[in-house]
Amino acid sequence: NDVTFFTQVVFCFVKTIHEFFRGSKKRMVIFASGRGSNAEALHEAVENGTINAEIKALVTDIPGAACIDKAKSWGVPVIVADRKSFASKQAFEQYILDAIAPYAADVICLAGFMRLLSSDFISHYEHKIINIHPALLPSFRGLHAQGQAVAAGVKIAGCTVHFVVPDMDAGPIILQSAVPVYEDDTEDTLAARILTKEHPTYVRAAALFCDDKLTIDGNVVKGTQE
Ligand code: GRF
Repeated sequence: NDVTFFTQVVFCFVKTIHEFFRGSKKRMVIFASGRGSNAEALHEAVENGTINAEIKALVTDIPGAACIDKAKSWGVPVIVADRKSFASKQAFEQYILDAIAPYAADVICLAGFMRLLSSDFISHYEHKIINIHPALLPSFRGLHAQGQAVAAGVKIAGCTVHFVVPDMDAGPIILQSAVPVYEDDTEDTLAARILTKEHPTYVRAAALFCDDKLTIDGNVVKGTQE
């Protein structure tokens, strides 16, 4: 009827104006090595418009990783770069650089990508690579961050989304979320609790980035507070 039609026209108009002022969608490439639950959260948020981006490709270093099938089901091209098939780290990274070049990425989201990128690689995408780490950085860098937190006896743990610099799990912090650590926690139970915070935290950080809200001032990222 007329009312429904009018409502739809108004809705389309408001949406177009909103999209116009929001700016063009960022071109996102996701790097992942495993099950891809963070990649999935990013994809969902791109689909529902929370993140102003298009996912152009997913890169993985692990043939057969679960994230591959996920990306395929979204219709996203997958680039598999198996480190073992390259003579050097440099050749491995060059392959990835060449493979993603056509997508002209505005942002690379590392989502459980288990390789350290060289400073040369990072220099191609300065301040455009972001990562999620399952700890409240600068504590507990590296592998088994949740196990490190349990072993250290900390009472609060969490996750960090940060810009990537050549040092592992370092770089300006965009957002962090905290969870309690309980006396009977194991690495796995804590990891599961942290993971529930990882998804919304990564989505929010990527959304802020893609809406051009973030600036970097030395080690400090500004623009994350309402
Ligand atoms: C997450 O805990 C992430 O913080 C870490 O690796 C894990 C990846 O999980 N870097 P998923 O593949 O996103 O499910």
